Amino acid sequence: MTTKSLIAANWKMNKSVKEAVSFIEDFKNYVKDVEIVICPSFTLLNKLNESIKNTNIKLGAQNMHFEEKGAFTGEISGLMLKDVGCEYVILGHSERRQYFNETDELINKKIKAALKNKLKPILCIGENLQQRNNNQTMGIIKKQIIGDLNNVSDREIKNIIVAYEPIWAIGTGKNATPEQAEEVHKFIRELLSKKYNGNAAKNTRIIYGGSMKPENAKELLSMPDIDGGLVGGASLDAKSFAKICSVRI
Ligand code: PGA
Repeated sequence: MTTKSLIAANWKMNKSVKEAVSFIEDFKNYVKDVEIVICPSFTLLNKLNESIKNTNIKLGAQNMHFEEKGAFTGEISGLMLKDVGCEYVILGHSERRQYFNETDELINKKIKAALKNKLKPILCIGENLQQRNNNQTMGIIKKQIIGDLNNVSDREIKNIIVAYEPIWAIGTGKNATPEQAEEVHKFIRELLSKKYNGNAAKNTRIIYGGSMKPENAKELLSMPDIDGGLVGGASLDAKSFAKICSVRI
């Protein structure tokens, strides 16, 4: 386990400005001393950047384009995310891979662009149910790590958070057991230790996502290679997200 755990909220396509601001008002009273990242929709970033002033909450986006500017109708760049106060960006979420055909090659371009703009990527990887049942989990994870982190240096890996998100656990209410998650997290750390020098593997945060909720957060976060969580559904309610952020190991 690295020194400090990180809990990130992936709000996906949810919340109006009013709802988001009222969430922050409630939430900031519950939680004091952990590193927290909230990743709302693009439309909420600017306003939330004001609301989180003087709190321990950081701002993240859910996606970005790899170019800085230009003729890419409907897209948002890393430069723009920086401009509205983002420090993090989720990349390679399985919903983007599945519904928007994002490949490892594209995700790698986005990772490089995020790093260039001093954004910390939260790189999501994970297998689907069929792949798990066919014992392909570790092969899929290896392929994603190799492809997504192509040409990412020893110096750069420190600024990346890897999120293991088994697709069968996302939004299903059925989380991976702590043992299932730990097995993959340990494998990811081993892959990183082969790929990178020094303490990079030890210091890279590997967080778990997939139906994390107040009832299962403690047992998951207690595992030695689980350094935090990426929370979808349970992050939409201030009280329930605060409960997850308040877990102490
Ligand atoms: P979930 O989503 O917590 O609703 O399963 C997690 C995610 O997709 O990041």
